[in-house]
Amino acid sequence: MGRRILFIGPPGAGKGTQAALLSRTLGVPHISSGDMLREAVAEGTELGKQAGALMTTGDLVPDDLVVAMVAQRLAKDDAACGFLLDGFPRNLEQADALDRSVGGDAIGIVVLLTVDDDELVHRIMQRAVIAGRSDDSEETIVRRLEVFRSETEPLLRYYPEHGVPTVTVDGSGSVEDVFSRIVMALATER
Ligand code: AP5
Ligand code: MG
Repeated sequence: MGRRILFIGPPGAGKGTQAALLSRTLGVPHISSGDMLREAVAEGTELGKQAGALMTTGDLVPDDLVVAMVAQRLAKDDAACGFLLDGFPRNLEQADALDRSVGGDAIGIVVLLTVDDDELVHRIMQRAVIAGRSDDSEETIVRRLEVFRSETEPLLRYYPEHGVPTVTVDGSGSVEDVFSRIVMALATER
């Protein structure tokens, strides 16, 4: 099974949920740029101060800040034998920066999670009630979906063009069913 896995999917697709499960199965760290940024906001660091407002409106945090943050995380020992990236790279500039920083072989396989828009909105509005994420509001969801389509979807051409396989997994249904589909898809691409 590929051990440098990138999860791509629209907001609410289940990237975080599935990456956390797979991280336990594979024994490689789950690295979520969104979680790291939320931590920085909560701690009130300089990065958090620069990121907070942009996250609330659903816009991307500047590439240089995010690239530096994730590069530092990837340099830790526990990422030496693989990692699950969730939410990064999120545009072509970040993908290029990552490839340049590790010599063009950063990602082994891309897992694209697909879920229809109605279900995405439903999941995010449910989470809004319990988790209180600053970007889980109806207005911001529309912006996050736009940003996904314009900034992140181009990666679905970038990686195949760079020889990195992509598996598309139906992200609807139960968490367990989606997880089984991912494990099966990765085993097939082995
Ligand atoms: P980020 O944290 O990456 O958020 P996102 O992409 O909008 O996605 P979510 O975390 O909302 O969804 P998910 O796909 O992880 O789904 P989850 O498992 O949580 O980014 C947030 C912001 O940070 C960005 O907008 C940007 O400002 C900034 N940022 C982050 N990375 C950046 C980068 N690289 N560059 C620049 N800026 C960056 O599931 C969603 C909900 O559904 C949960 O409540 C979950 O419990 C539930 N759920 C999951 N699976 C199922 C299922 N099968 N059935 C029912 N419910 C389910
Ligand atoms: Mg997430």
